[in-house]
Formats: sequence, structure tokens, C-alpha cells
Amino acid sequence: MKKSPIRGFFFLYDKIIKLENNNSIGNGDRMQKKSIWSKEIKQKQMMNKMSCEEVDIVIIGGGITGVTLSYLLKDLNKKIVLVDQGIVGNNVTSRSTAKISFIQRDIYQKLEKTLGYNTAKKYYESQVFAIETIKRIIDESRIKCDLEKSNSYLFTTLKSKENTIKKEKKLLTSFGRKCIETDKLPIDFSCLKAFYAEGNYTFHPVKYLNGLINLVKDKVEIVENLLVEEIKTEKNKYLLKTSKGMIKAKQVVVANQYPFFIKPGFLPFKNYIQREYVNVAKYRGGFNFNAINIEKELHSIRFYKDYIIYVSNNHRITNKLDIKKNYQKSRDDFYRLFKLNPEYNWLNQDLMTNDHLPIIGEVKKNLYIATGYNAWGMTNGVLGSSIIYDLLLGNTNTFSELVNPNRLSIAGVTNSIIDSLSYIKSYIESPFHNQCIYIEEENGIKYNVYIDKKGKKHRVKRKCPHLKCNLIFNEEELTWDCPCHGSRFDLDGNLLEGPSKKNIQ
Ligand code: FES
Repeated sequence: MKKSPIRGFFFLYDKIIKLENNNSIGNGDRMQKKSIWSKEIKQKQMMNKMSCEEVDIVIIGGGITGVTLSYLLKDLNKKIVLVDQGIVGNNVTSRSTAKISFIQRDIYQKLEKTLGYNTAKKYYESQVFAIETIKRIIDESRIKCDLEKSNSYLFTTLKSKENTIKKEKKLLTSFGRKCIETDKLPIDFSCLKAFYAEGNYTFHPVKYLNGLINLVKDKVEIVENLLVEEIKTEKNKYLLKTSKGMIKAKQVVVANQYPFFIKPGFLPFKNYIQREYVNVAKYRGGFNFNAINIEKELHSIRFYKDYIIYVSNNHRITNKLDIKKNYQKSRDDFYRLFKLNPEYNWLNQDLMTNDHLPIIGEVKKNLYIATGYNAWGMTNGVLGSSIIYDLLLGNTNTFSELVNPNRLSIAGVTNSIIDSLSYIKSYIESPFHNQCIYIEEENGIKYNVYIDKKGKKHRVKRKCPHLKCNLIFNEEELTWDCPCHGSRFDLDGNLLEGPSKKNIQ
């Protein structure tokens, strides 16, 4: 066994970085490197084994789509099982800002330009439908999830983007939505031109999921910490190979973020992963609006009780591989703009589609998928569950054609080429920022090694089990992150987030 000479280089590099970071924002003891919603996450039901091996419907993924779908299906008298590779609600949904809004940057003009006015209008209608559905579910089930009305602002700080703001407003007005023009936000934040619209909301996403789980848990079997490794067909049923045994199902819904199969649908060629960073701190109370800008570099704001939630520093996962620097930039921006040190700081990963529409529907007979929410997971998650509910029951759904997963996209092919080129970077660059991290080689296999504060050694293979990109150490959350398609693993290589279907062995 030998240590790589690269370790010496990174030791020196780390010293320089540490000197820099001693003067940086957000390194205080109070800061929690996790989502503000995460304290509500509870282990629902730890099953060692599935109670039955043959069911009607398996839903894979315990986020907003899977849980809402379970709620919609609960009274159908079918055997339904909801499985999650971790704890229900402890994934993408818990990292969201949980805006429930149809103001989604310049989405409508993008759709109008590429797919026509009617598609843009249909997408708007789908978002309004989703907002009304969330509101109806919360009202009828009396879930206490801090749902609040919240005016949504779209704004710019650039003269060159004024027309884009005007055009988005004009489109929304043509759809029948009243928009009010302004040149400032309700808080002191740079803004040149903006408008806002009513009819939008914010809530606590984990309280929403917990409330629904309480209502479905006697009718839907919930199995946590179960990894689905393979989906095969057997006659006219599906056979799922899982970490807790085989499950046979008539219908399967894949409602976790990354579409882990390539065929059917060629879904990985139609999307890419975006990362963004969230900072939260106490702010003057009394605000209940949310805002997002139109420029490429994201500024997104919402409020929760006395807190301000700010999202920035968005980038394709294949770019900006220096994770620590990305976190630090987001904290520095937060301090520069609000003069606040974050109490919570975390990163979020979103699956972005190349044609800006989500991917929801049947990819193969009785196999359904819902993903590609383009950072609007609350509305699109509920839209996804509503569409799949109808498809499972053989009903027609007015939005199913809009988001059909088998649609073709020329933009998808171009973007896949761009992504493939940037994946190569991960084989070359793999920055480490801590002297406790180095590479070992044994029998020709490279391992990443991290020594924790207690001196315990954590060693994992350097290659991601999905498609073998080099893993990068996330020193902020103490995870091994893949810069290609976003798989994440804990220090000992246990899978936290796919598309990988395996732990690092
Ligand atoms: Fe695809 Fe790692 S190679 S997630």
C-alpha cells in the first residue's frame, strides 16, 4: 500500500486555503450545514422486510411526488408500497425552498420561443392547477404545514433585461393573470424593474409530507432504507431487485429525482443536474413575499417565520468542481447582500430538462416516471402525482401530453454533448481541501481516504459506482459527491442520493 504524492501537494494547498478561510464568512459554530426543514424529518417505519412480495403498485421515492401520489391512491383498495432509499422526506424535497409559485423566471417566453404560445399557456395552466391541488389537499386533510399566501416577484437589476421582464409580464397577462409592475422589492435589495402576481404560496415541505404520511400509513406500506437495484419485466409484471429482497408489481412509479434507466425514453439525454446553495438566517419579521430574478446568476428569496431563505450560486454540476469554494461564495454573497451570517447553509441539486418542461408519464407499459422539475419541485411534484394517478387508473389527463417523457428534443442532444465534454473534467480535476484527505492505491485500485476529527479512517473507492467518474470530497457536509450526475455517498460509501443504485464497494 502506498500513499499518492498528490497528498503532499494538497497538504500545502490546504494550508493556503485554511489561511484564507479563517477570514471568511459563515464558519461560526452556530451554522448548521443542513436544511432548515430537516429537524422535522422523522423515521416513519423501519421495516426489515417487505410484508408481501407481490403488490399492485410500487412507488419508488418518498419525496413530494411519491407521498402525494400515495395520498391520492390511498382509498383505492389496492396493495401499494412506497419505498425510499433513505428516510421519507429526507431528500430533494427537504432541501427545497418550498415556493409554490407559477412565476418561474422567464419560463413562459422560453417555451413560447421554442415550442409556441399554446405550450407556454398550457404550462402556466398546469402550474395553476398544481397550486390549487396543493391548497385543496392541505385544506381537506387539515395538514398544519405553515401554508401562507405569498406574492411572487420577478425582477432584474440590469437595464438589458428590462424587456425580458416586460415580455414575461405581457405573456402572463395574456394568460389572464393580473401582474402589477414595480421598480422595487419590499425589502432593500437591488432591483431595476419587476412585477408581482398574487395566487402563490409558500409552506414547510417536510411538515406537508409528515401530515400526508400520517393519513396514508395504514393504507400504504412504507419501507424506508430500501434500495431498488434493478427493474426487470417478467411476463406482464415487474420484478424489482431490492436491498431487502424481490418485489413483484403490476405497476411501478419511479418518483425519485434521477431517471436511472437509459432505455426506454433515453431520459438521461434530455436533462442535466444543476446545483445551487441555500443560506438562511433570522431577518426582520413580517414579510411574506417571494422573489426571483431573471439573470443567469440566480438570486431567489423567500421568508419563513422570522427567517430569510436565499438561494444563489447556481451552476451545472459538471462545472465549478471546487465544492468548498462554492459554499463559501454563497455565504459571502449572503453576507454582502444582507449583512447576515447564515444559521443554515446547504446545497440543493435539481434535474433540469433541456426543453424546460418536466418529464412525467408512462415510459413503458405500466412503468411511470416523474422527474425533471427544473427547480420547481413543489408545483411539478404535485402535477406529477396528479398525472400519474390518472394514468394508473386509465383516466385522461389534460396535461399528460405536455410533459410526455417520450417526446423528442433536439436541444437535448446538443446539451448531452456539452455535458459529455464536461464530464471529462471530473477525470482530471478532483480538488481536495483538507490534509486529512488523500488518495491510496492498492492492487491497482485508487481509494479516497478521509481521516475524521477522532482519527478514524474512512476509505472508499475513488470511482463512482454509477458510470465511474471521480468522486469529490464535500468537506462542508462530509460526503463523497459525484460531479457527473449527482450521486452522493456518506463517509463510508453508503448511498445518499442516486442515480447510483449501489453503495461504493
Ligand atoms: Fe453518474 Fe457518478 S458517474 S452519478
